[in-house]
Amino acid sequence: MGAGRTILKTQVGIVGAGPAGLMLSHLLSTSGIGSIVVEKRDHETIRTTHRAGILERGSVRMLTETGVGSGVLDKGTRHEGIDLRFGGESHRLDFEDLVGESVWLYPQNEVFTDLAAARARDNGDVRYGVSDTAVADLATDVPKIRFTDAAGTGYEIHCDILVGSDGSGGICRRSIPAEARTDNFIEYPFAWFGILTAAPPSAPELVYANSDRGFALISQRSDTVQRMYFQCDPDEDPAAWSEEQIWDELQARVDGPDGFGLQRGSIFDKSVLKFRSYVCEPLRYGNLFLAGDAGHTVPPTGAKGLNLALADVRVLFEAVDSFYATGSRDLLEGYSDKALQRVWRAQNFSYWMTSMLHTRADAGPFERKRALGELGGVVGSRHGSAYLAEAYTGWPNA
Ligand code: DHB
Repeated sequence: MGAGRTILKTQVGIVGAGPAGLMLSHLLSTSGIGSIVVEKRDHETIRTTHRAGILERGSVRMLTETGVGSGVLDKGTRHEGIDLRFGGESHRLDFEDLVGESVWLYPQNEVFTDLAAARARDNGDVRYGVSDTAVADLATDVPKIRFTDAAGTGYEIHCDILVGSDGSGGICRRSIPAEARTDNFIEYPFAWFGILTAAPPSAPELVYANSDRGFALISQRSDTVQRMYFQCDPDEDPAAWSEEQIWDELQARVDGPDGFGLQRGSIFDKSVLKFRSYVCEPLRYGNLFLAGDAGHTVPPTGAKGLNLALADVRVLFEAVDSFYATGSRDLLEGYSDKALQRVWRAQNFSYWMTSMLHTRADAGPFERKRALGELGGVVGSRHGSAYLAEAYTGWPNA
């Protein structure tokens, strides 16, 4: 046990340096609480991994109020609404009018870059490129993280609180004994084909399109780079698609009498994103606390993943801060229940957006028309539109 390993001591040991792990480490440092973050990927790999791009206003507030918001404020774009497109027509949902809120288009890898820079500036201890990571003694007062650093030296971190923010494929959740957790999950019979293209924007805001050929999402990155997705089979091979085929498929899914046309450009990134809804209950085992994708996964429709991770961190930080300030474990005990309230709301929203906008291969005319009825009910009713707008921009008090 730990033989031959250098022992490191800290208050909070964190596995995973994505936005959740780095944000937590950053917040803890503002309260004078020490942490060490270990991460198997290197900084460059995370920086260049493309993920979703929408931040709820609560996420933006969290970044700006803690001194890491200059990136989103300077380079992000505020979006006051989205278009829902079906039957070849676009219907704008005006979030500001409906609920007085906006979202920001700012890619997750930029959030990572900003948080990583803040941790480096503040001499935060973040170790990228580690291997053989394992966690142990989770139900004791001294949980441990073992790892080998990029130079080949073995370490063992002794901490009071261990946070698993190591994503859906991570080790932390799998270290909880099977009898101490419930895995809630469903799979979907489709995936997203995502591209990045060097082209001007095709629309000023995001377009979520339902069509007989399946879903498409027209998103943006900048004046010169755009992000788009279309529903595909989970086992689709991106390499099998030519640029022309991709553009024709995307265009077919947004075609309509209004003549909406996509601005084509060269495609420099293609990938297939798997769909899954998953929640681990509880988000805790002994002194191990799960945050972000390590504890739950949503399908991408509605862009809740990063926002949920930051919401977990907000709740967890308050609990850890209160523990060190007062010695009381009450908020730590309540972390899982509190975080899960929002998680289940977001699970429902992501599931709802996904099922309303996608077309199942086996869907008959009834199911197809029922979905159009549902979309008509959302855009044709102020209450329906406001329900979507409130969920999309982020529930104020969940
Ligand atoms: C993006 C991704 C999403 O899943 C979504 O709902 C909105 C935007 C994006 O990558 O831009």
